[in-house]
Amino acid sequence: MIDGKKVLFSGMQATGNLTLGNYLGALKNWVNLCDDYECFYSVVDLHSITVRQDPSELRSRARKLLSLYIAAGLDPKKNCIYYQSHVSGHAELAWILNCFTYMGELNRMTQFKDKSSKHADNINAGLFTYPVLMAADILLYQTDVVPVGKDQLQHLELTRDIAERFNGVYGDVFTIPEPYLGKAGAKIMSLQEPEKKMSKSDENVNASIYLMDDPDTIMRKFKRAVTDSEASVQYNDTQKGIHNLIDIYCACKDVQPEDVVKEFDGKGYGDFKTAVGEAVVGVLKPLQDEYNRIIKEKDFLDSIIKENAEKAQYYSTKTLRKVQRKVGFPDRIR
Ligand code: TRP
Repeated sequence: MIDGKKVLFSGMQATGNLTLGNYLGALKNWVNLCDDYECFYSVVDLHSITVRQDPSELRSRARKLLSLYIAAGLDPKKNCIYYQSHVSGHAELAWILNCFTYMGELNRMTQFKDKSSKHADNINAGLFTYPVLMAADILLYQTDVVPVGKDQLQHLELTRDIAERFNGVYGDVFTIPEPYLGKAGAKIMSLQEPEKKMSKSDENVNASIYLMDDPDTIMRKFKRAVTDSEASVQYNDTQKGIHNLIDIYCACKDVQPEDVVKEFDGKGYGDFKTAVGEAVVGVLKPLQDEYNRIIKEKDFLDSIIKENAEKAQYYSTKTLRKVQRKVGFPDRIR
């Protein structure tokens, strides 16, 4: 608890371009969470170097992501948006938690198996202990809830196991975090293979709408979106492509699928796709304008980066000192 509010933590990597799926499924829905939770959103650059990065590229992407979060409506005075590498406690707690995590547990992590097969030439120890760093991120702020996608649930489960193990030895040190089960955002699927989630790492650029796509690109990608031969805008499980387009339209326009089916009754897919494209442009254009404005506000961004790092440092140090004391490190002399 911070000031009577539960704590919410999420981390995101500044690698890859965020998609419409990331926005409608997550980001957009986070904007109001700060009314009910004390929110921390970390740009997790320590995690990023588990695979090789170009240094200047990583630095610039991190700043872009941070700006994008602000452009999307996360008020940086109410949400702690900060760089993980600016807060030393993440790495320090991760070391300690490494000593409370078993090799066998890490060996079972599916993301490690995936990533090590993708980067077979660089299976470094960081990639292996990545979930422990993630546990440290979460536990460092006495987090109550973590909004995560399905792919990260296994890591959250491990975080809980590590926290319970530690508490079992030393008493109630860590809050046990839960997955955040708020109002679910829209689940947006690939425009080319609508049975697959829209992903920032999809090799087919036509499968995803990137948040920075210009209007022409957006319209073109929707024109090419895979549909079916029913030629009727209906909301059901067999017309997966149309289902996805309806979901996107609903999320952009704040309407219900029934309304969309009525609105496009008797109209062809061409008209519908154009309408969906325009709805998406209507949402992304203001976001892009705001982003382009913020990214140029150097002093503003720098002050946010500094203030929020200090805030994160303050709360994380509280937990870290407690943990260091519990495991038996000598007190600091003041
Ligand atoms: N591992 C997460 C991902 O790849 C990012 C992440 C790092 C994270 N630390 C976190 C997510 C803490 C939630 C909480 O998407």
